[in-house]
Amino acid sequence: MRKTLCMIFLCGFAAWSLCACGETSGNTPEKVQVGVTYYNQTDTFLRELIDCYKNDLESRKTEDLEVTVMVREAAGSEKTQNEQVEELIDAGCNVLCVNLVDRADPSEIIDMARERDIPLIFFNREPVAEDMMQWDKTYYVGAVARQSGELQGEMAAEVIKEGKVDKNGDGKIQYVILEGEADHQDAIIRTESVVNTLKENGIALEKLSYQIANWNRAQAQNRMQQMIRQFHDEIELVLANNDDMAAGAIDAYDELNYTEESRPVFFGVDGTSVGLQAVRDGDFAGTVYNDKEGQASAMAELSVALGTGEGLEDIAFENDRYIYLPYLKVTGDNVEEFMDRQ
Ligand code: BGC
Ligand code: CA
Repeated sequence: MRKTLCMIFLCGFAAWSLCACGETSGNTPEKVQVGVTYYNQTDTFLRELIDCYKNDLESRKTEDLEVTVMVREAAGSEKTQNEQVEELIDAGCNVLCVNLVDRADPSEIIDMARERDIPLIFFNREPVAEDMMQWDKTYYVGAVARQSGELQGEMAAEVIKEGKVDKNGDGKIQYVILEGEADHQDAIIRTESVVNTLKENGIALEKLSYQIANWNRAQAQNRMQQMIRQFHDEIELVLANNDDMAAGAIDAYDELNYTEESRPVFFGVDGTSVGLQAVRDGDFAGTVYNDKEGQASAMAELSVALGTGEGLEDIAFENDRYIYLPYLKVTGDNVEEFMDRQ
């Protein structure tokens, strides 16, 4: 008898708890689990971009939406990155964000994602169009490379026209360029478009040297030292493909104790915290803002839309699957505005 009563009670309890669960099941939160891998943690801009992305995703969490993110850095190795993608897929990620180590070779990653039907957002390092066509669930978030060179060129032309750059007064600007990785869309296009823009603005140029420093401050310092040894005071303008390399160039002049007056004029790209500070201090004449908040927010919105299957129709794509954020000019006049965003 006691046993039967006990059974009845237990069954009753089980039935009640099932109902109770049933009541809340309408509110079971949707789950977006994002896996991120990026090419190298030594990269300043990417570290800042990924911080913005994590914060943005965090702010999208609600009672009905659970969002988690796992971030891996590939230490510059394509093999490591491919393994990371596999690991993130096995861990249950339903959206992947990939900053390719080798932007020319995404096939393995696309194959893995396609096999498990997990949408793929590439960012910052743009795959070539043919690779983006391999699968229709690949997306790209970045910025229009050509515009960054144009804006850098326009700012430089303005300063040159004020007469502050042509130190030897020969009517030409003796310049050097510090370039990012050789096969990166931003390096190739920034270099090309900054020079074209200066010429279009009627500036006579004399190229002294182009040096690759792979976006890296220490490498840029080293290259700049070599160029100073070769050209001494001849260099009037340093155009760097990013802020870290412009900062590295200044490190080289610092180390050689060059006075303010005997230094060239420096321009960067990115508006990283180091870059903005350098503009505020007057060390850089200007930089071009690579809108990490805008890119992070576009990536987060897209991640949630792909992970939940809702809201994709509200996103404005270019060419169906691309999102490009505009660049902006930063000078001493408006740098505070950008510092406030950080
Ligand atoms: C940024 C660089 C960065 C590179 C990494 C570029 O868009 O301007 O600072 O090193 O992306 O891919
Ligand atoms: Ca000159």
